[in-house]
Amino acid sequence: MASYSELYGNWKSDPEAFWMEASGLIDWVKKPSKALFDEKAPLYEWYLDGVMNTCFNAVDRHVEAGDGDRVAVVHDSAMTGQKRKITFAEMQEATARLGGALQAKGVGKGDRVIIYMPMVAEAAIAMLACARIGAVHSVVFGGFAANELATRIDDCTPKAILAGSCGLEPGRIVEYKTLLDGAIELAEHKPDFTVILQRPEKNADLIAGRDFEWNAFQEGAPLADCMPMGGGDPLYILYTSGTTGQPKGVIRPNAGHAVALTWTMPNLYGVNEGETFWAASDVGWVVGHSYIVYAPLLAGCTSVMFEGKPVGTPDAGTFWRVISENNVKSFFTAPTAFRAIKREDPKGDFVKKYDLSCLQALFLAGERSDPDTIHWAQDQLGVPVVDHWWQTEVGWSITAIPLGFDQMNIKIGSTGVGMPGYDVQILGDDGHELPAGELGAVAVKLPLPPGTFPTLWNAEARFKKSYLEAFPGYYETGDAGIKDEDGYLYIMARTDDVINVAGHRLSTGQMEEVLASHADVAECAVVGVADDLKGQNAVGFLCLNSGCDRSEADIVKECVQLIRDQIGPVAAFKQSLVVDRLPKTRSGKILRGTIAKIAEGESYKMPATIDDPVILDEIETALRRIGYPK
Ligand code: COA
Ligand code: AMP
Repeated sequence: MASYSELYGNWKSDPEAFWMEASGLIDWVKKPSKALFDEKAPLYEWYLDGVMNTCFNAVDRHVEAGDGDRVAVVHDSAMTGQKRKITFAEMQEATARLGGALQAKGVGKGDRVIIYMPMVAEAAIAMLACARIGAVHSVVFGGFAANELATRIDDCTPKAILAGSCGLEPGRIVEYKTLLDGAIELAEHKPDFTVILQRPEKNADLIAGRDFEWNAFQEGAPLADCMPMGGGDPLYILYTSGTTGQPKGVIRPNAGHAVALTWTMPNLYGVNEGETFWAASDVGWVVGHSYIVYAPLLAGCTSVMFEGKPVGTPDAGTFWRVISENNVKSFFTAPTAFRAIKREDPKGDFVKKYDLSCLQALFLAGERSDPDTIHWAQDQLGVPVVDHWWQTEVGWSITAIPLGFDQMNIKIGSTGVGMPGYDVQILGDDGHELPAGELGAVAVKLPLPPGTFPTLWNAEARFKKSYLEAFPGYYETGDAGIKDEDGYLYIMARTDDVINVAGHRLSTGQMEEVLASHADVAECAVVGVADDLKGQNAVGFLCLNSGCDRSEADIVKECVQLIRDQIGPVAAFKQSLVVDRLPKTRSGKILRGTIAKIAEGESYKMPATIDDPVILDEIETALRRIGYPK
């Protein structure tokens, strides 16, 4: 086995040769003449003159290689108790049929298709069917409200929307179709048509002429071939939170994505063709795109799609059942899921009930992993626990411990070392690299590797401003961290107002925009406060208009509901409090970091530029009333 330093050295000494060699991992209609296209620097693209198709590489090529009977997707619903296995050959038929039906209704190469579906196998089929015909999918997470869906409809102007009639959450049915109808009503752009997968738990009413039932829509449709796609043609747009209410549409081009993700399966996750990989996430997030759908299938692995929760569906042993039943070799989830399991089953009684000898490693990402959780997972599972770091923007891991290589120690608290393609540096405010051990902005030297993003959908100026301007020549990640003497990275915090609640990336700026729209709110701040289970929780601070004589409790309730209605339950926004004033610097900047420290019961340094220190005492008293610090 080669060593990590050889791997990284190989890439660094000749990136072009490294990525040309990696391009051999996928099948091309026409091979690219070179890997990097830097003519438009600082915008970079990969494999631009190559021609390929992502669905062909994820599905058809395995059938052509004689592996059509191998299971591609195992769908396991802890919500309904149903289990279903779909082979690569069945996947080929299903994606060709849906792709053919979409083409027959006028959806072609480059057209956008929104997918708003729960964790059912049809969500993966829908994504791959779009990839097959060259349509650009944009999956929207089910926990978002109609308003968020409407924003995305207006931004990417889809020709069609593929949706489920409902999603299943513990104790309630989420009526996706009702949310979809509301979103289409709210949006200025109207899709030509929708296709609705009716789930038996809740059938949806269909609007004649606009809504088509999933199976009827596809009946008798011709089977679509795989559309030859240029290497730089977009495969998907995935929206993620930024600093404002307008989400950022991350574009993922076809070829670099297929090459990079295929590379990661054996080299990073230690999983080979024919073996089983499970990412317990949701297709609405980047982890779901990359590691539930694309990477495992591109590499010819079996992927598990799980509908359920780590606890309560029905118990804290669900994950272990799924691993042992499906012979999962590498498992990937968010630390919050492990914290939930550990809280219910601290002694690991459920772990002992299952034969987990198939499991080789656990991968964690999406938020900071606390050392306690990592130790617990290591002790219980007896396998390496790899904390690795990445973002929606980049689509695959920036730092990790790659299991396909030798000589790597795991350092608890660190997210590992740079993957090939990523030259990660810690920069000071002046843009110079800081010495090992010093905290600074985490930046990646341009170009970013294949599989990342060349720009934002319809927002090139925003792309440059958000990511490229702070440190010329670098991609600004928005995270702050430290690199140690051995090159291991430690991610400490965000440098912007993005917070992370249960592995879900949320914008406090966006929540503030919603709260500020309440008629009685004059000013507000939303702060991410550390939470034992979810990593962080959003807490709102409201200053009311002078003369407002309505009940504070009513206003707080309305504000909580407003966020649920406008952003969605995923914001998990449950706590707000009314305060007279917000602590600010003399230049008017709200001291969110100081408020968070007070809520967490941590000591803090009185900011030198604070306008009026007494306000901090008022905030502390107000927080005590709602139980902080916990
Ligand atoms: N559709 C509709 N609603 C959804 C949803 C979906 N796909 N996913 C979550 N929600 C809702 C939940 O029902 C909950 O609503 P509620 O306020 O009515 O209870 C709300 O959004 C918050 O959900 P969540 O933060 O997930 O909390 P939870 O209490 O349902 O579960 C954990 C807590 C820790 C078990 C859960 O957060 C978890 O497993 N997280 C894993 C995170 C993950 O996979 N992240 C992906 C990045 S790798
Ligand atoms: P998302 O785009 O939703 O994947 O969120 C990306 C952000 O989540 C990163 O910028 C980090 O702030 C955080 N994050 C992801 N993985 C990790 C990790 N392993 N450790 C710490 N933070 C992480």
